[in-house]
Amino acid sequence: MDIDTLLAEHGTLVFGHRGASGYAPENTMESFGLALEQGAHGIEFDVHLTADSVPVVIHDFDVHTTTDGQGMVVDLTLEQIKSLNAAGPKWPKHAPIQVPTLDEVLSTLAGKLIFNIEVKADTENIEHRVAELVGKYGVGDAVVVSSFNPVVLHRFAAAYPKIRIGYLYMDGEPYTQLAQMMTGVPIYARHPYHAMIDTPYMNAARQHGYKVNTWTVNDPERARQLRDLGVDVVMTDFPDRILHALSD
Ligand code: G3P
Ligand code: MG
Repeated sequence: MDIDTLLAEHGTLVFGHRGASGYAPENTMESFGLALEQGAHGIEFDVHLTADSVPVVIHDFDVHTTTDGQGMVVDLTLEQIKSLNAAGPKWPKHAPIQVPTLDEVLSTLAGKLIFNIEVKADTENIEHRVAELVGKYGVGDAVVVSSFNPVVLHRFAAAYPKIRIGYLYMDGEPYTQLAQMMTGVPIYARHPYHAMIDTPYMNAARQHGYKVNTWTVNDPERARQLRDLGVDVVMTDFPDRILHALSD
C-alpha cells in the first residue's frame, strides 16, 4: 500500500484522527478497527516511548488525560502502561481497553491502512524504535511521520532519509522561527490546522511541491471545501461522516 498511489487514484483521502475517536476511546485498537470498518484510507495516531524504550500509542506526555493512571509515559514501563485503562475518564462506561503498542497497530493493520505516525516526544532513540517497526512490517510506503517538534523531524530525516516527513503546525505558532528550525529537513507534506488553509496557502504548498494533510475536520461542509481546495488528506474523528460528505 503506497500513499502516493492511493492519492493518485482517489484524490483527497480520509484518515481517522486517533482512529475513529468520535466513536471509541482514542488511540486504541478499537478506534483504529472502527476507522478501517468505516472505510477510512488511513489512521493518525500519537506515539511516545516508554521507560523501557517501547513505542506506545497515546496522545499526552502524561497518562492521566486518557487513562485511569498517573505519571509520565517516559517514566512508566510497558508493563505499567499495559495495566492502565485507555477508555479513561472520557468513556466511563466503556469496558477496559489497553494502550496499544506501535508494534500491535502495525502488525494488525499493515497492508490495510496508511499510517500517520505523529511522534510527540523527542525521547532518545525514538526515531530508531519507530523506524525498526516500520521496517519490520514493511510499511515504509504507507507511513508519514509527523511532528510539531522540528528536532524529532531532523532526527528522522538524518537517520532515515526515505521516511516521508510531515511538518505539523497550528495557528499561533511562530512560523518564521519554526521554518528556520526545519531548514535542511526534506518535507513531504505540511500538516497545518485546517483553518489555516485557503487558496493562497494551497498555491504556495504546490509551488514548493508539498502535500497538504490537515486536521481535525469533523464538519462535512468544511471537508468538502478542503477537498475542493485540493487538500491531500483530511483527518477526522468521524471517518464515516466525512467519507459520506466527500462521496458526491
Ligand atoms: O496529527 C494531527 C493532529 O493529531 C495534531 O494534533 O493534538 O490531535 O495530536 P493532536
Ligand atoms: Mg495527533
